[in-house]
Amino acid sequence: MENDWILCCVLVHFLILLISSSYSINAQPFDYPIANLSTSWINNPSLNHSVSFQDGSTVRSILLRGSFGPRFACGFYCNGNCSSFLFAVFIVQTNSGSGITLPASGFPQVVWSANRNNPVGTNSTLQLTPEGDLILQDADGTLIWSTNTTGKSVVGLNMTETGNLVLFDRNNSTVWQSFDHPTDSLVPGQKLAAGQRLTASVSAVNWTEAGLLSLSVTREGLIASIESNPPQVYYNSIITGTKNSTEPSYVRFLNGSLALFVLNSEPNQPDSAIVVPPASSAQYMKFESNGHLRVYEWAAEWNVVADLLTGYFGECDYPMACGNYGICSNGQCSCPGATGSETSYFKQVNDRQPQLGCSEITPLSCDASQDHSLLELNDITYFTFASNLKDTDMETCKQACLKNCSCKAALFQYGWNPSSGNCFLPSELFSLMNNEKEKTHYNSSAFVKVQISSITQSPTSDATPNPVSSGKKTGRTAVILGSVVGALFGVFLIISICVVLFRKKKDAEDDEEDYLDQVPGMPTRFSYEDLKVATENFSRKLGEGGFGSVFEGALSNGTIVAVKHLDGLGQIKKSFLAEVETIGSIHHVNLVRLIGFCADKSHRLLVYEYMCNGSLDKWIFRLNQESVLNWQSRRKIILDIAKGLAYLHEDCRHKIIHLDIKPQNILLDDNFNAKVSDFGLSKLIDRDQSEVVTTMRGTPGYLAPEWLSSVITEKVDVYSFGVVVMEILCGRRNFDRSQSEESMHLLSLFKRKAEEEQLFDMVDKYSEDLQLHGAEAVETMKIAAWCLQSDFAKRPSMSVVVKVLEGVMNVEPNLDYNFSTPPPRQIAAIIARKEADLVISAPLSPSVLSGPR
Ligand SMILES: *[C@@H]1O[C@H](CO)[C@@H](O)[C@H](O)[C@H]1NC(C)=O
Ligand SMILES: *[C@@H]1O[C@H](CO)[C@@H](O)[C@H](O)[C@H]1NC(C)=O
Ligand SMILES: *[C@@H]1O[C@H](CO)[C@@H](O)[C@H](O)[C@H]1NC(C)=O
Ligand SMILES: *[C@@H]1O[C@H](CO)[C@@H](O)[C@H](O)[C@H]1NC(C)=O
Ligand SMILES: *[C@@H]1O[C@H](CO)[C@@H](O)[C@H](O)[C@H]1NC(C)=O
Ligand SMILES: *[C@@H]1O[C@H](CO)[C@@H](O)[C@H](O)[C@H]1NC(C)=O
Ligand SMILES: *[C@@H]1O[C@H](CO)[C@@H](O)[C@H](O)[C@H]1NC(C)=O
Ligand SMILES: *[C@@H]1O[C@H](CO)[C@@H](O)[C@H](O)[C@H]1NC(C)=O
Ligand SMILES: *[C@@H]1O[C@H](CO)[C@@H](O)[C@H](O)[C@H]1NC(C)=O
Ligand SMILES: *[C@@H]1O[C@H](CO)[C@@H](O)[C@H](O)[C@H]1NC(C)=O
Ligand SMILES: *[C@@H]1O[C@H](CO)[C@@H](O)[C@H](O)[C@H]1NC(C)=O
Ligand SMILES: *[C@@H]1O[C@H](CO)[C@@H](O)[C@H](O)[C@H]1NC(C)=O
Repeated sequence: MENDWILCCVLVHFLILLISSSYSINAQPFDYPIANLSTSWINNPSLNHSVSFQDGSTVRSILLRGSFGPRFACGFYCNGNCSSFLFAVFIVQTNSGSGITLPASGFPQVVWSANRNNPVGTNSTLQLTPEGDLILQDADGTLIWSTNTTGKSVVGLNMTETGNLVLFDRNNSTVWQSFDHPTDSLVPGQKLAAGQRLTASVSAVNWTEAGLLSLSVTREGLIASIESNPPQVYYNSIITGTKNSTEPSYVRFLNGSLALFVLNSEPNQPDSAIVVPPASSAQYMKFESNGHLRVYEWAAEWNVVADLLTGYFGECDYPMACGNYGICSNGQCSCPGATGSETSYFKQVNDRQPQLGCSEITPLSCDASQDHSLLELNDITYFTFASNLKDTDMETCKQACLKNCSCKAALFQYGWNPSSGNCFLPSELFSLMNNEKEKTHYNSSAFVKVQISSITQSPTSDATPNPVSSGKKTGRTAVILGSVVGALFGVFLIISICVVLFRKKKDAEDDEEDYLDQVPGMPTRFSYEDLKVATENFSRKLGEGGFGSVFEGALSNGTIVAVKHLDGLGQIKKSFLAEVETIGSIHHVNLVRLIGFCADKSHRLLVYEYMCNGSLDKWIFRLNQESVLNWQSRRKIILDIAKGLAYLHEDCRHKIIHLDIKPQNILLDDNFNAKVSDFGLSKLIDRDQSEVVTTMRGTPGYLAPEWLSSVITEKVDVYSFGVVVMEILCGRRNFDRSQSEESMHLLSLFKRKAEEEQLFDMVDKYSEDLQLHGAEAVETMKIAAWCLQSDFAKRPSMSVVVKVLEGVMNVEPNLDYNFSTPPPRQIAAIIARKEADLVISAPLSPSVLSGPR
């Protein structure tokens, strides 16, 4: 009995110990977040909480805020080789009693540093001088860094809760703060203002600022670029001119987003945002030496929870994916012209590390420009394109590069007519990528400038074959034997390669089904069964579009959705998932949001937000006899469509041309906010499926005249938008058989009424409110006229249209009302030929072509 009692006591005691040790019931604050003037700290192991970690890093903390959990501290930090230290702000794990803890994988994470270009050694000193200057000196007294705050009434240094290191004055006002001097990281709450930039370090181990890759905020939004003259932009999230966007802007790392604000916009109203997974613990984001912007989160160890720019593109879209001149193909690197050609001009910088890029075997020399030549690379694209020459042909583009010594390559893009395209002449060439045709609307050609080694051979050129053959007299048998062995070896090699490739392909196919499953911020993947249940076995059909039927459904959480069952998609897997990822990453109030998708065996479905007022055509063509939209609603709808399109054209990493703007593809929510739907879908359809493509791309009546002749640009959407605006204002279809012969074609009527200055006659007669606002409607028609200009170069961009609609800009005064409307039959033939190299011979009746799909 007594024994039992003792045992019980011991157990209870043990339990209490256990609880108190693991839950720290009596946590004592032990932090030391503030320092006074005239304090100095010497970088040696006796400094407070000098801790070395398993990854070789050591921290010696000077200030530390908070207890228990991931906390911000500042102090000396070394990464591995502790002969050099940074004065840094880092996140460490702390507990109640003993200070910084040593979790197996919770290594300190540096989020800011003062001297990454000038590390200091042991016995260096950080001093908060009596004059209020914070200075860092090496052991020999050399000044390494200073805040230059002498005479600014500093009274102390504060390590704040949010990770900001602050020098404050008597009024607790900030005199200097580390947040104003970002290095390569941002912590929650921190903002990156216009003029500031994050600069990547040289590599994951060498933290010297490379100065090559930077992420900055400009008038155009958040931009990631690589240094060159001019810099080459590889990521650009433009802030559209919805407000006074001549104002600079900033981004702020919030819980759940990296939000872009224009300065004079309403506070807490970001103009756009990149989605970040909501923080369940400490987070920070880092702009890394490979150009990625990654978000890290603490959960027993530091995990990458998001790769923000990659949401929009692939590994090969990063400018240094394969170094200079390297060609990136599914993450594999090679050099230009490496196989198949007699002469090679490039070699790998490092044979073992192809991702370091390639160098010229004979360096380019401006003094020997007569020996410059262009090496054509097939199916190659580049991560960026800035038109140096517009509307030109390939030959002119090539010549322009050969004539200019600082040009390193001629990159040429065109729609279908190689005599009319755009030309980019970069002064430095970073990683190239294998063209993924389904990702672009353009054809592209790349020509890389090379130096043809003249008679005087470059001594470093080891690739040119030695002309002197040694074993010339070897017998015939040896040759035959050699070739037999060679041939056998060759066959063996080919078989091996085939086996490897086949395996790879198989692996890739197996992977594809799972790819995208759990990408944060991306659309949810549903199984076919889920969607069958959600739509009650596809019983409530909402409509039928060119891509398939649409059904109403309800997800298990009650959300009403529209499920689109795509037809005619056979084997497509990777491209489907890639496009779904692209579409799913696009968020804008004027674009119908993709909530999820299903890629289950042969089923391809897209799950969209439900828009309860259906498509615009029902409202403007009075298909449902209900109330007619008033002027304010129509004006708002026009502005909404314009904003949605401006976003697609100018804000996405891969510019998205809708190609099929028409009232059927504009949806209205319960408050009559308009949203553009079906964007990006044309790219989901395989080019080989000519039948599908012919009925898919564009709708006659909304197609711009350049479909007949020239490069297809986003201006084809501007044209279609112009047609839709006229339909909204006039309350009738573009082609309406119920009208008299001369009024049947809306644009012909538009031209005549403009010449007669009787545009008022065209305003929707079924709406009294529109008649009341006739003058404004006629003004809006002028915007439509501008959008309908036959010469696509004269049409405004969608962001300009937004500005005009908002009254910040005026319509171009000299408009041509001679709208050329291509005859439907010709259009149908051209589209078919362009998309599938197929001429339609059977005539199609105009009613089929202009009728709704
Ligand atoms: C800083 O100075 C204040 C008052 O002068 C004092 O109360 C405080 O303890 C000092 N802090 C440190 C860390 O020395
Ligand atoms: C070391 O930490 C203690 C609190 O744990 C603090 O009082 C002291 O000022 C610190 N010393 C230095 C040199 O920072
Ligand atoms: C550390 O750096 C020093 C000088 O920079 C170098 O001599 C030493 O070999 C390095 N040690 C390690 C382990 O890398
Ligand atoms: C740092 O200073 C201490 C004491 O002055 C000295 O013993 C030590 O050798 C110094 N270390 C270095 C690396 O200079
Ligand atoms: C302090 O001033 C020096 C010289 O003017 C300058 O090089 C340094 O960048 C300044 N330090 C900071 C943190 O601004
Ligand atoms: C130091 O920063 C904290 C925020 O973490 C703030 O609450 C505090 O007022 C600051 N102290 C001084 C003296 O500025
Ligand atoms: C503190 O605030 C008072 C009143 O706003 C002002 O007069 C004084 O100059 C300020 N002191 C410092 C050091 O900024
Ligand atoms: C400055 O902040 C400290 C601590 O947050 C507070 O005790 C003090 O009253 C503040 N001083 C002024 C002038 O606001
Ligand atoms: C880090 O990179 C810089 C710039 O490329 C170079 O000068 C420096 O030697 C490198 N440091 C180490 C330790 O490799
Ligand atoms: C744009 O800014 C200018 C001056 O900065 C101001 O006068 C104008 O009203 C602003 N326009 C809008 C639409 O905010
Ligand atoms: C971030 O937001 C989520 C909800 O969206 C919330 O659960 C979480 O606690 C927040 N995290 C922080 C650090 O505030
Ligand atoms: C030569 O090309 C560079 C960029 O490749 C460009 O900046 C420069 O203006 C061009 N010079 C001439 C004379 O065209």
